[in-house]
Amino acid sequence: MNSKLWRYKVKPNNILIVDDEENILNTLERLLEDEGYKLFFANSGNKGLEIIRREDIQLIISDHRMPGMDGLKFLNETKKISPDTIRVMLTGYADVETAIKAINEGEVYRFITKPWNNIELLNIIKQGVEYYNLQKELERLNKLIQSQNTQLKEWNFKLEQKVADQTKSIRDLFLDAITSLVFALEAKDKYLEGHSRRVTEYTTGICEKMYLSKEYTEDVKLGSLLHDIGKIGIRESILDKKKKLTKEEYDHIKTHVLIGERILTPIIKNETVIRIVRYHHERIDGSGYPDGLKGTVIPLEARIVAIADAYDALLSERPYRKATDSINAIKELRKYSGIQFDYEIVKIFTTCVASLNETLS
Ligand SMILES: [Fe+2]
Repeated sequence: MNSKLWRYKVKPNNILIVDDEENILNTLERLLEDEGYKLFFANSGNKGLEIIRREDIQLIISDHRMPGMDGLKFLNETKKISPDTIRVMLTGYADVETAIKAINEGEVYRFITKPWNNIELLNIIKQGVEYYNLQKELERLNKLIQSQNTQLKEWNFKLEQKVADQTKSIRDLFLDAITSLVFALEAKDKYLEGHSRRVTEYTTGICEKMYLSKEYTEDVKLGSLLHDIGKIGIRESILDKKKKLTKEEYDHIKTHVLIGERILTPIIKNETVIRIVRYHHERIDGSGYPDGLKGTVIPLEARIVAIADAYDALLSERPYRKATDSINAIKELRKYSGIQFDYEIVKIFTTCVASLNETLS
């Protein structure tokens, strides 16, 4: 037996047999030699551990009563070295207590008493090896799934990044196009030229002063640029009229907020922007249009734009009146603060208007 430590056929599973009785080792060798396993033998626990450290063992069959290290201790030690190896205990004593202890502590897969039934033992070994291989396959598949999940997450992240980048570039393109349109419209009218750009500067300043989020501020910026987009639908003769407007003409101008909303709703999925377009002529006391909303029912973004819009209008010359200076425009805003304009936002605006005007000049 010593000269012949193992023998195997094609791609074997490794089995270690540990018993201090040579005739048991020989009997088991004869039983298993044609079963396609690669067999290792040891006549003590210590020698068995040496083999476990050296070889990749799938299944161990160990005697319990051995001099020196007993089977339970040996199997316990093997668990530390090779936790996944299947352990079968074989003993000449029907030691129920040992069996229960071994099984309860998860040390052994099966407990077999000598003399054993060959078919039963072969079946147990076969099942044990299959169980081991199944566990390993499961482990391999789990690792594969984990690595594929990581890969998928990476791909997903990159894809999301790409979508976000493209969304941003589409939005930027759209913004550029629409801004050009607004500027082109305003350029036709010397009283309006640069109005939306200045309103945007003012509202950005207000948002920053109010510590509103970056995303919200961006939406307010876009809404400010587009707030009067509906004027595309207003008759030029009315927009250019030098004299005071009739009631019918004024009513027609008022529709620009609804026209703007109708133009933008199908192409821009941004509630803040749409609300600015629709509600920027609402007044705190409810006397505004189109819905006559009151106080804080008017969306915050619309209350912000209303102030910036009015301030810039006061500073600009109109066919029917001269331009006001900043000091008088602020006085006007304060005068109507809490009536036409949001009291708190006017207060905030007055603290930053000077520096905003410097940026614009
Ligand atoms: Fe407007």
